[in-house]
Amino acid sequence: MKMLITGGAGFVGSHLCDKYVREGHKVICLDNFMNGDLRNVRHLLVFRNFKLMKGDIRDFDLLQRIMRDVDVVFHLAAQIHVERSYIEPQLTYDINVMGTQNILEIARLHDIKRVIYASTSEVYGSSLYHPMDEKHPLNAPHPYGASKIAADRMCYAYIQAFGMDIAIMRLFNIFGPRQKDIGYGGVISIFTRRVLSGLPPILYGDGSQTRDYTFVDDAVRAYDLVMNYSEPINEPVNFGSGKELSILDIANRIIGFCDKSDDIQPIHVEPRIGEVKRLIADSTRAKNLLGWEPQYDMDKGMREFVQWYRNYGFEEKINIG
Ligand SMILES: NC(=O)c1ccc[n+]([C@@H]2O[C@H](COP(=O)([O-])OP(=O)(O)OC[C@H]3O[C@@H](n4cnc5c(N)ncnc54)[C@H](O)[C@@H]3O)[C@@H](O)[C@H]2O)c1
Repeated sequence: MKMLITGGAGFVGSHLCDKYVREGHKVICLDNFMNGDLRNVRHLLVFRNFKLMKGDIRDFDLLQRIMRDVDVVFHLAAQIHVERSYIEPQLTYDINVMGTQNILEIARLHDIKRVIYASTSEVYGSSLYHPMDEKHPLNAPHPYGASKIAADRMCYAYIQAFGMDIAIMRLFNIFGPRQKDIGYGGVISIFTRRVLSGLPPILYGDGSQTRDYTFVDDAVRAYDLVMNYSEPINEPVNFGSGKELSILDIANRIIGFCDKSDDIQPIHVEPRIGEVKRLIADSTRAKNLLGWEPQYDMDKGMREFVQWYRNYGFEEKINIG
């Protein structure tokens, strides 16, 4: 099969590139390297069935050229960071909404068999009831979430209006190797970097805000089940563990896995405006439709991540970054 993976040099996209290149599919990895990293895909460059392209999903003509004979598009490219979306709402909108619109429109013109869209639990905002199923109101309180709502609903409109096969995947928070550990990174990576460097994790507010985390291998399995599903999936699907963990709890567990419990305590700073307070997935649809359930529990995933980070991520980032 010939695949386009947008955002393929990023955290989740690079794991998809790994899987499908090794399985022998033809993979085009398109990334503008705004948040992606060559180190995530450098090892794939020697494979003839892998093509890395630096390019932008806002470039309609470029997409038209590269999507001509593609079978499946995994559309992950996005400006993913909530805080950056406050500073650059227009950029966030242009990439996340207009970029997605480009993908959908060209997929329509080129009759692409399936588009798999990386929506997110951030579309929901703080939970009004829990666990949160796909009918939960879309109440994102920030420009990032709002842009993902618009793109998610545009996918739905293309399904309804043009009979296209578009899967809308609403993954809850994902963590694992290659997630950025600085700046606009993931909280587990950032905490791990800080703790292994002898610094305390920084909590915004009291740390009682909760998230529902999925290890990246389980996220890749979710994408793969969706890609291989025999019918169009015309409704959004949640993917999460159904278990909530507070950020404080995560910080303490990471301190433990890094063997720093005697030396380091989390520190607290001012809460972040608009931060979602609570997210817990109801993934019944994913289970019933696809047989998806996470295989990693949080501790297993975090332990593996810390080990990876010690052995590889930390050293590589320090030496090369
Ligand atoms: N990480 C999570 O917890 C999570 C959870 C749910 C959904 N998602 C969604 O999954 C997708 C991937 O997330 P991630 O965590 O791997 O983020 P990431 O930032 O690591 O990956 C996104 C990639 O898109 C690239 N990109 C950004 N703008 C682009 C543009 N205009 N053209 C081409 N490439 C561009 C970036 O350089 C980056 O490599 C996103 O759409 C995100 O909304 C992520």
